[in-house]
Amino acid sequence: MKLDQSFMDFMLHHQEHHNRSYKFLVLLEAVQTAAKYIQYFYQTGSLKNVMGETGITNVQGENVMEMDDIANEIVLHYLRRSNQVIYAVTEEEVDPVVLNEEGGRYFFYYDPLDGSSNVKHNLSVGFMFAVAKKNSDGPEDGHLRKGSELRAAGIFLIPNGVFTLALADTGVFRFHLDETMTYVIPENAERLIIPDNPKTWELSFNSANRNTYSEKVQKWIGGNEENFAFRYMGALAGDFHRLLSNGGMFMYPAIVNHPKPEKNRPKGKLRLLYEANVAAFIAREAGGCAIDENGQEILEIIPETPHQRTALYVGSKTLVADIKRSLTAK
Ligand code: AHG
Ligand code: MN
Ligand code: MN
Repeated sequence: MKLDQSFMDFMLHHQEHHNRSYKFLVLLEAVQTAAKYIQYFYQTGSLKNVMGETGITNVQGENVMEMDDIANEIVLHYLRRSNQVIYAVTEEEVDPVVLNEEGGRYFFYYDPLDGSSNVKHNLSVGFMFAVAKKNSDGPEDGHLRKGSELRAAGIFLIPNGVFTLALADTGVFRFHLDETMTYVIPENAERLIIPDNPKTWELSFNSANRNTYSEKVQKWIGGNEENFAFRYMGALAGDFHRLLSNGGMFMYPAIVNHPKPEKNRPKGKLRLLYEANVAAFIAREAGGCAIDENGQEILEIIPETPHQRTALYVGSKTLVADIKRSLTAK
């Protein structure tokens, strides 16, 4: 009989191997518990009539779905119970939520439910998160950390039951929910690497926005689109998940040529701390790369506000390097 390794067993070995504390384990136990509850509420949501809108708009001026609220509350509850988190930055709250200022050790950035437009169709959404650690040696620099200082980032794909986790300097691993609602991984599973081979590459962007991108980006698309299959499901969590296996590039460029100028988004749409950084950190640990509209590495952007946006180009190294040449050309 072949038995898989549970997520917590995997983490225990990881922490012991790196001679690290168990506090991170306590945090991730809370995180995976939250993910399972979100999964449960999502799967049963249509029966309970909670897959609609609340009628409220959030910090971003976007409609809040009832499931956004439910997922956010679930995550905050388990983070609070864990006692390990100093502050949490969530898409659904204007200010960082203070959890355990004295005794906490981590900063937690999350999008409790990514891909809200998929909710009413019961299609894939994601719970995306990133973790940074308190500086115990030098001076503390507050709760907004740049991506290169993250210790971990992950995406739970819901309701698909797949969890992708990137650990700093260790790699990316994929866990699956089994029959007992345990996240498991085959024993001795290989770390995940983004293919850098054009044969499997795919492109992912919202093509309805195409004419609103800069001329440079439009030209790049024109020169490349025939080479690749095109996939877009409207949830970074899901689109990026697919890209990690097949390689290629996901992009959400700056919108600078909208026929209604007030609808331009020179900084793109995605949020740096809990969307772009999560994808960028996972990409880095999987051998890929992520840049913004200026060709700057996403992980090197110093955050100024909790909900700041950035354009995002993330995926296979060679392809991201290629669009970087176009973006930075004079
Ligand atoms: P959220 O549901 O958390 O607000 O995020 C939605 C984001 C992201 O997941 C996705 O890639 C993008 O919005 C899709 O935007 P468009 O509908 O403009 O393509
Ligand atoms: Mn999102
Ligand atoms: Mn969201």
